[in-house]
Amino acid sequence: MSSKRSPRQHVEPMRVLETLRRVKRLRLFEPSLVVAGFLLVSFVIICSFFFFDYRELAARFGFLGWSQEKIRGSIQERVQRVEFLGEKGGGCELFEGNWVWDETYPLYHSKDCSFLDGGFRCSENGRPDLFYTKWRWQPRLCNLPRFNATRMLEKLRNKRLVFAGDSIGRNQWESLLCMLSSVVPNKESIYEVNGNPITKHKGFLVFRFKDFNCTVEYYRAPFLVLQSRPPPRTHGKIKTTLKLDQMDWYSSKWRDADVLVLNTGHWWNYEKTIRGGCYFQEGMEVNLEMKVEEAYKRSFVTVLNWIQNTVNHRKTQVFFRTYAPVHFRGGDWKKGGSCHLETLPELGSSLVPNDNWSQFKVANSVLLAHTNTNTTESSKLKILNVTQMTAQRKDGHSSIYYLGRKAPLHRQDCSHWCLPGVPDTWNELLYAMLLKHETSHTT
Ligand SMILES: *[C@@H]1O[C@H](CO)[C@@H](O)[C@H](O)[C@H]1NC(C)=O
Ligand SMILES: *[C@@H]1O[C@H](CO)[C@@H](O)[C@H](O)[C@H]1NC(C)=O
Ligand SMILES: *[C@@H]1O[C@H](CO)[C@@H](O)[C@H](O)[C@H]1NC(C)=O
Ligand SMILES: *[C@@H]1O[C@H](CO)[C@@H](O)[C@H](O)[C@H]1NC(C)=O
Ligand SMILES: *[C@@H]1O[C@H](CO)[C@@H](O)[C@H](O)[C@H]1NC(C)=O
Repeated sequence: MSSKRSPRQHVEPMRVLETLRRVKRLRLFEPSLVVAGFLLVSFVIICSFFFFDYRELAARFGFLGWSQEKIRGSIQERVQRVEFLGEKGGGCELFEGNWVWDETYPLYHSKDCSFLDGGFRCSENGRPDLFYTKWRWQPRLCNLPRFNATRMLEKLRNKRLVFAGDSIGRNQWESLLCMLSSVVPNKESIYEVNGNPITKHKGFLVFRFKDFNCTVEYYRAPFLVLQSRPPPRTHGKIKTTLKLDQMDWYSSKWRDADVLVLNTGHWWNYEKTIRGGCYFQEGMEVNLEMKVEEAYKRSFVTVLNWIQNTVNHRKTQVFFRTYAPVHFRGGDWKKGGSCHLETLPELGSSLVPNDNWSQFKVANSVLLAHTNTNTTESSKLKILNVTQMTAQRKDGHSSIYYLGRKAPLHRQDCSHWCLPGVPDTWNELLYAMLLKHETSHTT
């Protein structure tokens, strides 16, 4: 018996020893655990300083063109600002101003909004910082009204608000759906009238807010003018043509909207037209030589004439949202251009776009010519001139956070925008202009 027990007795002290040794080893680690914990806590505290005292920090480091003087200056300036919606606000240039840090933003959270493409849900797709959701647009000479979704929905009662344009227009439309739906407790009362999911990328989507009997609609029309089959017996390399003198098929649906927000620009380049066999047509004539810029210019005249002659201006308010700059650093999306390291806007800068600005320049010159020469015409088209303010927001793009997981670094999206984010501001401006229209037409 003893001979049988002895090995076990031998084993058990060994186990005890082993355990003791382990405990000792753990003890040895304890001090370093404490240190690590301490470091972690300090890190969090430092981070929160960064977060809450961001402006101060920006000022101290002197980057972004901030300085104490400037901050004090802007505070003094604020005192003299008028309310945009007030009597004296009429002359205020809404699009001249600054991005200011505002802790009360964002206006909604993407996880609470089911009307968003995955591609705009940056935070849910792993974007770690939320800085880009905290900037408010502050016009230099006036204050914008705080966005009130209930008020906007009341204003839209029995009405149609239509966005038509490219996917940046869709970005803005989805932003507005989230902004508006945030005050509707019963989300079931908001639905796509044909039962289509939000991820459907072609055609159009019409969301109804049942309690307000209004719809907020999006029509995909990246060129605004008609893209369709070429006339018979044309050159084999012509796959489709853009009819520069004809509006998109769906324009008949846009025409009767109460509020219409148009945009175009990002598709007017060689890659998205001629390279894919899409040439430009006027009448029955396909012009193989015409440059994209020239085509863009001509299409723009068609759009402006349509607004002028076809839209009923007693019913419909037409807005044109100007070009929203892209921010690919070091090449476009195919050449591995990036923006994923941008976490701050370019606060101090004036309009300094690095990339090619042709889409902006073309549209701008046509718009300016149009609005400067004829005041009756200009009153029929309101410009949401977001280009310059948006140029400063290199921090706002989806970058690598447009897929459910992180996208590869060489395939970044530096043209679309995270939501909540920059397009919310475009909608706040739209809101302000709609309310201003109301007050100036009722008093
Ligand atoms: C928003 O607008 C509604 C309707 O006009 C109003 O009753 C409400 O007080 C407003 N909310 C805020 C926070 O101003
Ligand atoms: C709902 O709005 C439409 C216009 O978009 C209008 O024709 C219709 O009468 C409205 N329905 C009700 C119940 O108010
Ligand atoms: C700008 O446009 C010109 C001609 O349209 C082109 O050759 C050039 O590469 C473009 N530059 C950039 C930075 O995209
Ligand atoms: C401005 O546009 C209106 C409407 O198209 C037109 O009747 C008028 O002649 C134009 N005025 C000028 C100065 O071009
Ligand atoms: C939009 O704003 C920019 C910068 O302030 C200006 O250069 C441009 O002319 C404006 N465009 C229109 C159409 O008002």
